Amino acid sequence: MSTTPEVPDPSLILETPRLVLHRPTRADAARLAELANDSGIAENLSILPHPYGLDDAHAYIDNTEISATRINLGVYLAGAADGFIGTASLMPRDGERFVVGYWIGRPHWGRGYATEAVQAIVDLAFGRLGVDAVAATTRVTNGSSRRVLEKCGFQFAGSGMGPSLYHRGMVPIDRFRLERSIWMSLKNWASKPGETARSA
Ligand SMILES: CC(C)(COP(=O)(O)OP(=O)(O)OC[C@H]1O[C@@H](n2cnc3c(N)ncnc32)[C@H](O)[C@@H]1OP(=O)(O)O)[C@@H](O)C(=O)NCCC(=O)NCCS
Repeated sequence: MSTTPEVPDPSLILETPRLVLHRPTRADAARLAELANDSGIAENLSILPHPYGLDDAHAYIDNTEISATRINLGVYLAGAADGFIGTASLMPRDGERFVVGYWIGRPHWGRGYATEAVQAIVDLAFGRLGVDAVAATTRVTNGSSRRVLEKCGFQFAGSGMGPSLYHRGMVPIDRFRLERSIWMSLKNWASKPGETARSA
């Protein structure tokens, strides 16, 4: 499949069965500050301040971007009035051009929302943006995030150390990678259920 890379529109909206993803606005600041002020989130992200207040939320929102090199999206429950539940991003980091990052507020954990959001942003990257690979990192202790990446098709790509603002130093991390060819295989399998079994 050949794709003509698209420069994303600043008004980009991604829709999934249960979620809507778009650039956050200042109207989300209070909810963002409430959900992000959680050590269980800060300790698993590289640069999230802790404690996290309204000023941090405003600074984050004002610094979000949707461009060819960086995409910062809020994650929202579809159809909910105050539906902000987290963020998902695609940004350059650590020598990689496209690294996916995400967090979901604690009250919403365990319902598949992170997986749904990451799959949407990965589909955007390989589909409309035409990238060759998407990378990710997790702390080695973050089994839940690792599972999200596995469910999205990412493969283990080595271990190392990464920065942690929360721990004020470096912490052990695992690196993951999803290549375009693997993503295409996964999409084909998903769209043709049973075909492999029939032709074997
Ligand atoms: C990691 C995080 C995004 C997951 O969000 P979520 O919406 O709960 O994720 P999902 O529901 O899509 O999937 C979670 C999976 O992890 C599994 N899981 C939960 N705790 C786990 C653990 N300790 N070890 C292994 N797997 C675990 C769940 O069972 C689920 O897998 P399943 O669908 O096969 O049952 C969320 O916990 C979070 O924001 N954590 C703090 C920030 C963070 O870690 N961000 C990622 C940085 S790399």
